[in-house]
Amino acid sequence: MRTYLVTGGAGFIGSNYIHYMFGKYDNEIRIINVDALTYAGNPENLQEVEGRENYTFVRADICDKEAITRIFAENDIDRVVHFAAESHVDRSIKSPEVFVRTNVLGTAVMLNCAREAWERPDGTYPEGKRFLHVSTDEVYGSLEEDGGYFYETTPYAPHSPYSASKASSDMLVRAYMDTYHFPANITNCSNNYGPYQFPEKLIPLIINNALQGKKLPVYGDGKNVRDWLYVEDHAKAIDMVQEKGRLFETYNIGGHNEKQNIEIIHIIIETLQEMLAADDPRRALVSPDLITYVEDRKGHDRRYAIAPDKIRDEIGWEPETMFREGIRRTIGWYFAHEDWMKNVTSGEYQKYYDDMYHVK
Ligand code: NAD
Ligand code: TYD
Repeated sequence: MRTYLVTGGAGFIGSNYIHYMFGKYDNEIRIINVDALTYAGNPENLQEVEGRENYTFVRADICDKEAITRIFAENDIDRVVHFAAESHVDRSIKSPEVFVRTNVLGTAVMLNCAREAWERPDGTYPEGKRFLHVSTDEVYGSLEEDGGYFYETTPYAPHSPYSASKASSDMLVRAYMDTYHFPANITNCSNNYGPYQFPEKLIPLIINNALQGKKLPVYGDGKNVRDWLYVEDHAKAIDMVQEKGRLFETYNIGGHNEKQNIEIIHIIIETLQEMLAADDPRRALVSPDLITYVEDRKGHDRRYAIAPDKIRDEIGWEPETMFREGIRRTIGWYFAHEDWMKNVTSGEYQKYYDDMYHVK
């Protein structure tokens, strides 16, 4: 039975990945999930898998070398899937240091512990050991509005402390591959959306605010473009890269789905209006009148767009979920999990929101 060590599995993409993997492999695999449970990590995301014998949760910080070394010593880990990171650009603008600590130092600890556990005296690695570093398209910087795509060969040009810290972590992975022949892959994915996403990010924030009749904050002119991918498609891509990808390669993952932020907000409003029953009191609250333009994000990247040609041609992965369908599924999930949203937006979140947004 193959053993996976997943870091950051209590967050948005990590928890979706764990659900995807158990849905696909059931009892054929074992997953150990290491997560520090920061504000972004939520054990509720994994309630359905908690009782499984082939699932173990370890609360630990990826910067804690002793804790990570122990996990490798006590388990014969075959695959590492490294999600754990600080992931929100706005928070990185306010508090950059924690991004450097977790994303750079934490990745260095993960790489080194895996290397110490796996490397043979002659510098080779046993067949089947693989480390997948989950990264972002934001490392490539910003594209012009009227053209161009990010390829695996696009030079790195990060602008935010978040993307700079992810770029640094990618460089460490490259250095391990080049120096130690360490068996790894890097994936650089575009913006994800779907169930379990924390409402600091655009799509869940807009859904949550709209349902309460709160203002919908749009940064700048609302015309920044992101390439949105349904999170389950990302989980599938990660699995396919580990199964079929060539070691030491980078694969870009994207949705072929570029949209301006303002378009996204209008689609969410329309979809909410379609999905809410006529007698639901929230229906009267959801309206385009809630859209409020606010001060732009500092250093706001204008456009991201991935060319996912390599992963399609080499591995056969393509995005499957059309945006309208993905948004309906996402909104349906948030309707069915009102308590989840209430729990994550109580307490600390309110303080974050008030500091970040000066609109009510
Ligand atoms: P998230 O913020 O929802 O989750 C991050 C998880 O990591 C949380 O469970 C948190 O508790 C955990 N974590 C944070 N610091 C830790 C530490 N020091 N030790 C152990 N665990 C720690 O993030 P996400 O959106 O799920 O993103 C996951 C990964 O995917 C990140 O590496 C991110 O850079 C990358 N990524 C995200 C997107 C996106 O659109 N969200 C797109 C491309 C790539
Ligand atoms: P976000 O979800 O934070 O992802 P990222 O910055 O990693 O792309 O933001 C997506 C886009 O939406 C980005 O251009 C910033 C914008 N945005 C808003 O206009 N208002 C908001 O309240 C948020 C959170 C984001």
